Amino acid sequence: MTALSSDDLTKLQHKADHSLAQVTTSRQLEEWRVTYIGRKGLVPKLLRTVKDLPAKKRRLLGQQANELRSRLEQQYQLKQAVLRRDRDAVPLPVKQAVPLTKLSGMPQPGHLHPLTITLRAIQDIFASLGFMVVEGPLVEEPEYNFDLLNIPPQHPTRAETDTFYLTDGHILRTQTSAMQVRVVREQQLSPPFRLLFPGRVFRAERTDATHETTFYQFEGLVVASAISVADLKGTIEVFYSRFFNKAAQVRLRPSYFPFVEPGYEVDLQCVFCTGKGCRICKHTGWLEVMGAGMVHPVVLRNMNIDPEAYSGFAFGGAVDRLAMLQHSIDDIRLFWSGSLDFLKQFS
Ligand code: DAH
Repeated sequence: MTALSSDDLTKLQHKADHSLAQVTTSRQLEEWRVTYIGRKGLVPKLLRTVKDLPAKKRRLLGQQANELRSRLEQQYQLKQAVLRRDRDAVPLPVKQAVPLTKLSGMPQPGHLHPLTITLRAIQDIFASLGFMVVEGPLVEEPEYNFDLLNIPPQHPTRAETDTFYLTDGHILRTQTSAMQVRVVREQQLSPPFRLLFPGRVFRAERTDATHETTFYQFEGLVVASAISVADLKGTIEVFYSRFFNKAAQVRLRPSYFPFVEPGYEVDLQCVFCTGKGCRICKHTGWLEVMGAGMVHPVVLRNMNIDPEAYSGFAFGGAVDRLAMLQHSIDDIRLFWSGSLDFLKQFS
């Protein structure tokens, strides 16, 4: 057998990430565990070969291999919790049963909603980059949505005109950023980790062609040692390149979000005119696509992570916006219109 190298570890990590992303049942998860981290699994097998390495390599590779093992174990536990939650979810009662005798003719085969198609494409890309995909509650505690993200009580985003408040003190989450502290705390994660939180969010908006009360976001959170803005920019560029299937360029414009420092608006060079200026980018050459930044030390501390030892980046974008760009849809309200003329174009 040839000697173990860092490359082997990276490859194994990618393989494990990729196959974990496909897991949807506890049985598959158990198979995954046995294959990778079980007693006779690939990672323990590889760890046993470390002792045969020359002393110089042994320390570094031993450390890397141990890190890989604990990361995979953490991912395993996270996935287990996600599967358990899905299993325990109570199905909504069916309000009205359709009498089958009333159906006539051949049933029309259904197809996915355009937002689902785009959401899945986004998830697949991030899963292939080693991100763990985690969904969470739509009815949220204000602490996770605001306070623990360093958003003070008087911040305008918390106004009644912006947020839907429930009578029991909960809110409808206004951003998938709410998942950041929730997941890290609940799962007691310690760095390094890469997480993606896709899902529905709500704003008390007046609707128009670009604003809806209900839309989808995807939020990324990466924490490890020595993470920099370069990692943020690189990750985002790889994502958009894969999403639009062409080399993407992004620029970061300084901006303010309370839970990051520094914070940025991310502009993507217009994928339609490659920056020359067109109707879609309003002749600016750039498309505003997401907010992002380096996780604020206060937020890291709220996650029980030492900001002196670790750093991280976060980003959040709207799925609807990407679907609109991808399919040249000019009115966001079409997504919830229920119009078959609209929907059938995506079959
Ligand atoms: N949550 C923000 C919004 O809904 C978007 C956002 C901005 C997410 C910056 C982030 C970030 O993670 O770092 O407008």
